[in-house]
Amino acid sequence: MILRLTILPGDGIGPEVTEQAVLVLQAVADGFGHQLQLQRKLIGGAALTVANDPLPADTVQACLASSAVLLGAVGSPAFDHNPGHLRPEAGLLRIRRELGAYANLRPAVFFPALEDCSPLRAEIVRGTDIMIVRELLGGAYFGEPRAIEGAPGSRVAVNTMRYSESEIERIARVAFELAMKRRRKVLSVDKANVLECSRLWREVVTRVGKDYPEVKLGHQYVDSAAMLLVQRPTDFDVLLTENMFGDILSDQAGGVVGSLGLLASASVGGPVGLYEPVHGSAPDIAGKGIANPLGAILSVAMLLRHSFQLEAEAVCVEKAVSTVLSQGARTADLAGKTHVAISTAEMGRRVVEAVKAVGSGQAEKSA
Ligand code: NAD
Ligand code: IPM
Ligand code: MN
Repeated sequence: MILRLTILPGDGIGPEVTEQAVLVLQAVADGFGHQLQLQRKLIGGAALTVANDPLPADTVQACLASSAVLLGAVGSPAFDHNPGHLRPEAGLLRIRRELGAYANLRPAVFFPALEDCSPLRAEIVRGTDIMIVRELLGGAYFGEPRAIEGAPGSRVAVNTMRYSESEIERIARVAFELAMKRRRKVLSVDKANVLECSRLWREVVTRVGKDYPEVKLGHQYVDSAAMLLVQRPTDFDVLLTENMFGDILSDQAGGVVGSLGLLASASVGGPVGLYEPVHGSAPDIAGKGIANPLGAILSVAMLLRHSFQLEAEAVCVEKAVSTVLSQGARTADLAGKTHVAISTAEMGRRVVEAVKAVGSGQAEKSA
């Protein structure tokens, strides 16, 4: 198969983790006989510096002409005081919208080798396997009007949280369909005791749930869900929620399983899927070569699975990650006091080696 991808390295640690993810992808392509066609484009602060636009038109065109997009991260303190549309983050929000990527899948899976990394006791976190389904194109992120208005000293800021029934219905269906292939539980997270958006959310999700009688549907207020996520993370199967709650709870889930640097994501629903780690550009560690590339690498697994239906290839990447972790490979975020931290590049190299080993094992099996 020919895999035509656009790579958007972005800012901060984005290029560092993306480089390793591409090396892993190349190893998978070599091992399974696929051909990679990659083009790299600018987004975020990197694009602002060159083109004064966080999402230049040729980046959008390249993404739309690809079969999938792999993104590192955007964001840099250098642009933190820019007007909204000239911030790196605006580029990310626009590419999500351009690609119609309304369904953001953020798995949080606990690796048995990382028992000492979670701040939670092993018996609490062991077995955690959550699929966060975050609505990605609605809510306060995109609602109009939005503005800061008035004279200094008496300014007023406005954001609008907005959801239509059809937006809620389509993301709810994604969650129920995923649950059917998992443990058949959906927990819908909202703030229906306060927000109209959440009351409509709960009503529509309940209605969609009737089409999936085998799935056990629950509803939880977001504050209570945040507490349950640390108290009983293994209770969760599919966690369905709106844009901002999903943003917050997914970082928290990263903490639960040991590091935000482990989490991958897929943003799907439109013609071209967008794959990116959950973490940001991490300016505090950028340029040091110490970032954890596994979130980006596991995003490659999601890309293979969701954009190309290459399940064996996706599993190969996931197994390789699991293997290197059980062999004790740890970047600084995971090393703690018990392990010697390895670099971003060394972690990538080990995953590549493990991919090759898994690949040659398969070749032997089929011989
Ligand atoms: P962040 O996710 O970049 O970092 C939070 C903390 O986690 C930092 O201490 C960082 O060092 C650590 N961390 C994150 N990823 C890591 C990795 N792979 N390995 C090791 N440690 C890692 O969040 P932030 O600091 O709040 O935001 C920084 C910038 O990133 C901001 O400009 C923000 O808007 C942007 N951001 C972008 C995305 C994205 O592009 N998808 C996501 C989140 C934040
Ligand atoms: C994420 C990020 C983005 C979001 C920001 C950078 C726009 O935090 O992907 O989780 O809030 O969606
Ligand atoms: Mn986030």
